Amino acid sequence: MTVENKKLLDELFYSEVLPEEGYRELLAAHEDEETAGYACELARIRQKESFSNEIYIRGLIEFTNYCKNDCLYCGIRRSNGSAMRYRLTRAEIMECADQGYELGFRTFVLQGGEDAYFTDERLEDIVGGLKAKYPDCAVTLSLGERSRESYERLYLAGADRYLLRHETADRIHYERLHPPEMSWENRRRCLYDLKEIGYQVGCGMMVGSPGQTMEHLIEDLRFLKELRPHMVGIGPFIPQKDTPFGDQPQGSLKLTLFLLALIRLMLPKVLLPATTALGTIHREGREMGILAGANVVMPNLSPVSVRKKYALYDHKICTGEEAAECRGCLEQRVESIGYKIVTARGNALE
Ligand code: SAM
Ligand code: FES
Repeated sequence: MTVENKKLLDELFYSEVLPEEGYRELLAAHEDEETAGYACELARIRQKESFSNEIYIRGLIEFTNYCKNDCLYCGIRRSNGSAMRYRLTRAEIMECADQGYELGFRTFVLQGGEDAYFTDERLEDIVGGLKAKYPDCAVTLSLGERSRESYERLYLAGADRYLLRHETADRIHYERLHPPEMSWENRRRCLYDLKEIGYQVGCGMMVGSPGQTMEHLIEDLRFLKELRPHMVGIGPFIPQKDTPFGDQPQGSLKLTLFLLALIRLMLPKVLLPATTALGTIHREGREMGILAGANVVMPNLSPVSVRKKYALYDHKICTGEEAAECRGCLEQRVESIGYKIVTARGNALE
């Protein structure tokens, strides 16, 4: 590690921000083991100050893979005629939550494609039903772009948090990844609306999406500082064979881990998941993510019968296991590196 890079990491550790040139220098060194190791070491200091050795779990319910959007990277995009479509009923969603509650989950994440079947009325009914049955649990939504009014209604129905990755903070790169009817402006509008309404908000980017440069990632880091989200979900891009990006290379493990560490240093209290995509590109990707500063894991509570159909990318892990198996498996993984899973709601820290 060069003296300059050590200094930059120390500066980031103490001041939580760097001049742009500093990020450029550090990102250029992400493959250097000593630099990456030191970044993770500092990130773990911050992680432990805020969260000790506790890892929050969120139960992910992938309740529909119908989607009106056509994001070029995504396996459930509307043009993918090979995707086998499904949507869960209200009763099935409640069953997933019942099972999750038994297993100790106190946050349910409802994630899906942008499916017109799920109107505000239907979603209010589902969110309201979950909150009435489990008032001690947080409900997180991840339903893509909606109107401000819709976000307000769902918030009033009881939703606590909303995850909407910004995907990339660079407008031109955004346009390369999305069809013309989607816009970078609207994505940002959604994120700012969600924050104003009072949700705990998660954004995040894919690492290594086709055409992404280090400059784009620097813009992402700058955007994170600007939005100051409660949660940041980042994971590597992974190709899905039936999409236009099916033959593109996957995102880098080392770069994703390095970015996790930088984000922990920039936003010490942020909720930072070690994502399924990270676990997909490396057998121990989620453990490595935790050791780079992540403090959240999101095992799947969807019924096993639909898991393979929520195929955002190829070779996704955990598509054959029951919820209890995933919970047990993650518990062991987390314990093997000296951390422990906790069943708290795991709200964002102020
Ligand atoms: N429709 C909602 C939305 O747009 O936020 C939630 C579902 S969307 C499939 C969830 C996330 O999956 C996206 O934000 C994107 O970052 C990620 N994703 C989609 N395709 C991916 C791929 N090929 N590789 C890695 N992540 C992917
Ligand atoms: Fe699902 Fe390991 S977390 S099998």
